Amino acid sequence: MGKAPPAPESTLAQSFSEAFGYEASGVWSAPGRVNLIGEHTDYNAGLCLPIALPQRTYAAVRLRPDRHLRLRSLQSSQQYELELDDVCAGNPPGWGAYAAGVLWALETAGHQARGLDVMVDGRVPVGAGLSSSAALECAVAAAASDLLDLELLSDDRVRARLAAICVNAENTIAQAPTGGMDQSASLRCQDGHALLLDCRDGTVAQVPFDPSTQGLSLLVMDTRTEHTLVDGQYAQRRSSCQQAARQLGLPSLREVAFDDLNESLDRLPDNQIRARAKHVVTEIERVRQIVALLRAGRLPDVGPLFNASHASMRDDFEISCPELDLAVEVATAHGALGARMTGGGFGGSAIALVPADSTAAVTSAVIQAFADRGFGTPNCFAVTAGGPARRESKPDTPGPCSFQAGSGG
Ligand code: GLA
Repeated sequence: MGKAPPAPESTLAQSFSEAFGYEASGVWSAPGRVNLIGEHTDYNAGLCLPIALPQRTYAAVRLRPDRHLRLRSLQSSQQYELELDDVCAGNPPGWGAYAAGVLWALETAGHQARGLDVMVDGRVPVGAGLSSSAALECAVAAAASDLLDLELLSDDRVRARLAAICVNAENTIAQAPTGGMDQSASLRCQDGHALLLDCRDGTVAQVPFDPSTQGLSLLVMDTRTEHTLVDGQYAQRRSSCQQAARQLGLPSLREVAFDDLNESLDRLPDNQIRARAKHVVTEIERVRQIVALLRAGRLPDVGPLFNASHASMRDDFEISCPELDLAVEVATAHGALGARMTGGGFGGSAIALVPADSTAAVTSAVIQAFADRGFGTPNCFAVTAGGPARRESKPDTPGPCSFQAGSGG
């Protein structure tokens, strides 16, 4: 599980200066997420329960006087230089879409934007289903909000508006038809809590989540198998759900009462659509049950609900893959209380709730099982619930002036 990476703010500010020839105005950061439960429920106006990860994306940023954008990343050789007025669906391509898209979306929402110089240090694993793209959007959005004096970070109500702006950037400019959970998690989660997000009206509740207090740990198992949301599978699931709701005469599958599930499913003629609807409705119910257990201090009891969620995604929603199934199966066989894939699916990561003293054993068993099956080595690491997008404190620069800022700084 390695050592924690060094605090990146000062090295990133330094890289910014080297690249652009002047100093950044500051460094902002935003976290990736894992979703504890409630998968593919966000675009069904349902419930989900993400936590923010300790892994974050950092952006050193300076506002420009013009409408020019220069985007660089420590992780990519792809650099961008473009005018804000040239940002549109599909342009720029690649990672730049998530950063530039945010400025476009701010203007679309009625805010006056300007050009930025941006240097990114993305520390959320890419393609792992841990929302590295939302972390990038939200880090840039946090910087833009501060530098343009938009005040879209000051409380949860305005953070919800900023999250919607980031979703528009992702849907329209990056052209990924995602549902909005990731950006809400990145902007609205709080340290030590899971975020109960009601996607029907955007309201949230903070649910305490600290497995260490019960001798447990939350293990992320990144299978390192291909995961992309821009391909057709995610959009297909989304459209099947809309079709199911339409056939039931409802605005969304959220409106199907769990107690009436069988009766509703009987009214859906197509087997596949019925299975998709069943996943969504049962998954929303599992969110409710897990939230009740967490609030009652009964974290160990969520295990079977994790397992049921995974089975539902494997069999009914059909978004798992052999690597995810193997990670879940081996983790539970070696002492995890429950495990499930997390995120969009078709690769990416699974999570397991494990007794803290079994974390190493579960990790080795999963790595060994992957080797035995000829799969690549998974990346397993324990996570805690982190905080939301924020401006980082000024870097402690070495040298005679590096005193801790006192009051008034
Ligand atoms: C991806 C999307 C989210 C959500 C999840 C599945 O992470 O970005 O909007 O739909 O998949 O729960």
